Amino acid sequence: MNDKGLPPVITIDGPSGTGKGTIAQLLANELHWHILDSGALYRIVGIAAMHNRVDANDAQALCGLARNMHVEFSSVFPGSITLHGLEISGEVRLEQAGALASRIAAIPQLRAALLQRQHDFRQAPGLVADGRDMGTVVFPDAVCKFFLTASAETRAQRRYKQLKDKEVSVSLPGLLSDIQARDERDSTRAVSPLKPAKDALIIDTGPLAIEQVMAIVRQELKSHQL
Ligand code: DC
Repeated sequence: MNDKGLPPVITIDGPSGTGKGTIAQLLANELHWHILDSGALYRIVGIAAMHNRVDANDAQALCGLARNMHVEFSSVFPGSITLHGLEISGEVRLEQAGALASRIAAIPQLRAALLQRQHDFRQAPGLVADGRDMGTVVFPDAVCKFFLTASAETRAQRRYKQLKDKEVSVSLPGLLSDIQARDERDSTRAVSPLKPAKDALIIDTGPLAIEQVMAIVRQELKSHQL
């Protein structure tokens, strides 16, 4: 617990495709801590909007969905996600859900509406939080902060391979331009833009294997007595 009696938080921020979801999951498993996939929350609001025919520009209606949606994440990876009892984990991971999430995530009122829900994940013995603004806005008092980067080309290649392995047909140039558009939107929005916290350790995962990133993360945690 910290000096305010709150469980500790480790934040892992960065653009999509840098491996932050994988690192967050491995770390949470290793520490036996809770995990928050904050991107999934934005994706789920987008999905709820589609299911309810809510316009992606209607901030008030989106906030209503964000406050009232009943979401359950299973604790086992790669877990199921239900929205009002309906299994939506497949839909959540689609490229379209990511693109819609990125659009609606620029709406300040929606970010505010999701804040308490994110804070509620902070439970003992600790939380690993994955997102874009975990270390800067949502958990600025985190004990240890990481920011993962990699070039857009590397991230597009990784995503291409993942989708090919799942036999989803995609074009590499198309993926690259989607990633670049999403980076641009996420980094230039007025509220909580994608950027490293001042006290975050920045790791370029481009040339590294997952285990090498984990080794750097473990070393950093050790230096914070974690
Ligand atoms: O991490 P992800 O790809 O699932 O996130 C989907 C989108 O949600 C991302 O493009 C931007 C938005 N997002 C955000 O604005 N803040 C977060 N903490 C997490 C995600």
